[in-house]
Amino acid sequence: MKTVGIFAEVRELAVGRIGLVPTMGFLHEGHLSLIEAARRENDSVVVSVFVNPLQFNEPSDLDSYPRDPDRDATLIRAAGVDVLFLPDAGTMYPTEPLTRVEVREVSDRMEGLSRPGHFSGVATVVAKLFAGIQPNAAYFGRKDAQQLSLVRRMATDLSFPVDVRGLPIVREFDGLALSSRNLTIEDHLRDSALTLSRSLFGAADLFESGERSVKALLLAAHSGFGKDPSVDVEYIDVARVSDASIVDEIREPAFIAIAARIGSVRLIDNVTLDPVTERADRGIRLNEPSVLYGDI
Ligand code: PAF
Repeated sequence: MKTVGIFAEVRELAVGRIGLVPTMGFLHEGHLSLIEAARRENDSVVVSVFVNPLQFNEPSDLDSYPRDPDRDATLIRAAGVDVLFLPDAGTMYPTEPLTRVEVREVSDRMEGLSRPGHFSGVATVVAKLFAGIQPNAAYFGRKDAQQLSLVRRMATDLSFPVDVRGLPIVREFDGLALSSRNLTIEDHLRDSALTLSRSLFGAADLFESGERSVKALLLAAHSGFGKDPSVDVEYIDVARVSDASIVDEIREPAFIAIAARIGSVRLIDNVTLDPVTERADRGIRLNEPSVLYGDI
């Protein structure tokens, strides 16, 4: 594996069909599943690790974002990656970027409302990665379902010839969706954190029993939260997978998404609902503790 810091070096080293896995580091099994898919489907795999300041609307969130480049490099090397792209902020943004990518409408709700400017930061950095690396395919987790809709739309609107692939959420053995932020959940709040997945799974069960009304599905998800004072729900919403727009009834693939603060930690989660297969995609569960918690 070669580690490089500028786009030209990535293009020199990556050959044949190129699969890109964009990350902000502090890797877990969710990222590793993206790398595995990229390896299966491409000749070269490039993983980028860059904590993108443009997508943080709270400076304290950017400062406290977990970082461990050595740990990331060990995991990425062991996963059989060809090129690790590790740019610094000066390389990615040599001057204040006056060009920003806005994906309107897809960004208007849920995470877009809760985190002003976040999606413009994501769309801008992903567009730069697509332009600079020129991958054939790029891999994203469905945990950030709205982000996935946004990246797909951005790639179509800007004519990037990149196949944007979305892979299932990976969950801890108890159902909590994997996130680097899980490390910061206090032990006594672990059960409270599980209310996100439990509520979503309740709505998913109802969907699989034939319910298609969004109102009924939202009610089921809300009722899963009970009155836990440590849980502060920011939103529960349902959106079309294609463009993250509002729906009243599930007649095409949609996702039901939750954002909540558990103590001081903000978590998101979702389940995809497919009316064609009549199945809800709850993701994949690990059988053992995540690499997040162990020495590697
Ligand atoms: O999902 C993430 O980790 C980030 O939003 C991404 C796509 C790497 C862009 O910085």
